[in-house]
Amino acid sequence: MTQDTAEYAVIGVGSIAEAIVTGLSRSDEPPTILLSPRSRQRTARLAARYPAVRVAADNQAAASGAGTVLLCLRPQDAAETLATLRFRADQRLISVMASVPSAELARLTGPVAEISRAIPATAVAAAGHGFTPVFPGGSAAQRLFDGLGGSMVLGSEQLLDAVSVASATVAAHLAYLQTVSSWLVGQGAGLEDAQRLMASVFAGATAEFADESDFVALARHHATPVGSTSTSNGRCGGRGSSPR
Ligand SMILES: NC(=O)c1ccc[n+]([C@@H]2O[C@H](COP(=O)([O-])OP(=O)(O)OC[C@H]3O[C@@H](n4cnc5c(N)ncnc54)[C@H](OP(=O)(O)O)[C@@H]3O)[C@@H](O)[C@H]2O)c1
Repeated sequence: MTQDTAEYAVIGVGSIAEAIVTGLSRSDEPPTILLSPRSRQRTARLAARYPAVRVAADNQAAASGAGTVLLCLRPQDAAETLATLRFRADQRLISVMASVPSAELARLTGPVAEISRAIPATAVAAAGHGFTPVFPGGSAAQRLFDGLGGSMVLGSEQLLDAVSVASATVAAHLAYLQTVSSWLVGQGAGLEDAQRLMASVFAGATAEFADESDFVALARHHATPVGSTSTSNGRCGGRGSSPR
């Protein structure tokens, strides 16, 4: 007998869970969603904003309350948290947790109908803007993220882990922008102005990703021939000292 009161439940309501819940709730037919109660401010905010979102009394009530349960915990919290929960054999689990293999999840959760994994980005919050790697194809993960912009179906869990590493370079990209900003400060600019400038330059460039994802073509578009942004031979053609 099913005890479902919602289509989806979420265990671990942090940044990525909020993005997924927001994307689902902004879709044309928002599903009902049950949230684990920790992270009170965030869960209250989501429940207040979206009528189909509710907060469960505790983790087990969330875990038992939906046919499909999203696991959005930090990897280091997964084992301890999942070990306290019981899942039914007819439930589907979608894990967005990096570096927790399906076999380990199966060991922690016991028998369930399906375990799938996904590596979403916060862009899924704007329903239609995500492009989410999922494994395996035809799973609950694919169905969910198809509705939030699209899925990149991967042929193996090993490739999913490689994609996860590639996606994590966004943090290095932001650190790079901070390095360039600091270099500009060293040249005499104010920190706030330097950061705003870099944000503006890169927001403009990344806005073009909606229509173009050939980075070589984009680099060409942004490089004035023989100008300071020229990238011919893979080298920056600017004069003066380079950011380190
Ligand atoms: N952020 C991203 O862009 C992104 C993208 C793809 C995949 N992921 C993966 O998604 C997972 C979550 O990442 P995140 O950035 O969303 O982390 P996060 O913001 O720290 O969210 C994790 C949430 O889980 C909660 N939590 C911890 N222990 C719990 C428990 N026992 N019961 C219920 N909730 C619990 C945390 O609450 P407290 O803060 O109170 O501890 C926090 O709200 C990670 O495994 C990460 O690899 C993240």
